[in-house]
Amino acid sequence: MEVIICPDAERVGRVAAAKAAKLAAAVGPKVVLGVATGSSPVQTFAELARLSRDGELDLSQASAFALDEYVGIAPGHPESYHEIIRKTVTEPMGLDPARVHVPDGFADDLAAACRDYEAAIVAAGGVDIQFLGVGTNGHIGFNEPTSSLTSRTRIKTLAERTRQDNARFFDSIDQVPRHCLTQGLGTIMDARSVILVATGATKAHAIAQVVEGPITAMFPGSVLQLHQHATIVVDEAAAAELQ
Ligand code: F6R
Repeated sequence: MEVIICPDAERVGRVAAAKAAKLAAAVGPKVVLGVATGSSPVQTFAELARLSRDGELDLSQASAFALDEYVGIAPGHPESYHEIIRKTVTEPMGLDPARVHVPDGFADDLAAACRDYEAAIVAAGGVDIQFLGVGTNGHIGFNEPTSSLTSRTRIKTLAERTRQDNARFFDSIDQVPRHCLTQGLGTIMDARSVILVATGATKAHAIAQVVEGPITAMFPGSVLQLHQHATIVVDEAAAAELQ
């Protein structure tokens, strides 16, 4: 596990994007990206979009797979991850929408949607570069504490802590969904490279556990210690509790 500590959040985005661009260039234009929502990767994605626009990175044939989606929120809802990925990844990076995938949390048969999602990742050849944030409770994707370290894409109940953390995106906590579809920890671990970004003091405990804590389902991000190519890019505030 490589840990890169940057002076501020803006630098975190640039460093994470530079690392991803190097990996993507080595894979070629058909690179498969794994993409997260939330605040953490916003600057990284903006920088990747800039590199793509400036012709420094060829994403013309790239595919993307989102980590997760709320259950029961229609794809056009402003807080649906379909919509957020469209705004933060697909459009700014100029990806072909047909190659951008988000789990279908509005499907009649959610279990089948999860199986189909796993199959689509395999059919695309697997994820080359997986971007991650980390929840204050240690989740990656929406693999909440107690998630099996070998789990695959499935339905999960959101932890109360996660609903509280994400209430800022909704008018009230009552509107935050209770369930989601998420790639499993096993699915995430299959990615060839992983880049986790975190900024701010609220992530300091989570980063210390992910990087230096015991590997445990009680802190799901800690499984990344077993990944062969995991990079953690943080600002000084998020690094504050590292030994
Ligand atoms: C988002 C996701 C989550 C977030 C995490 C951190 O698709 O899978 O694991 O990365 O909740 O969220 P932010 O970045 O908003 O603090």
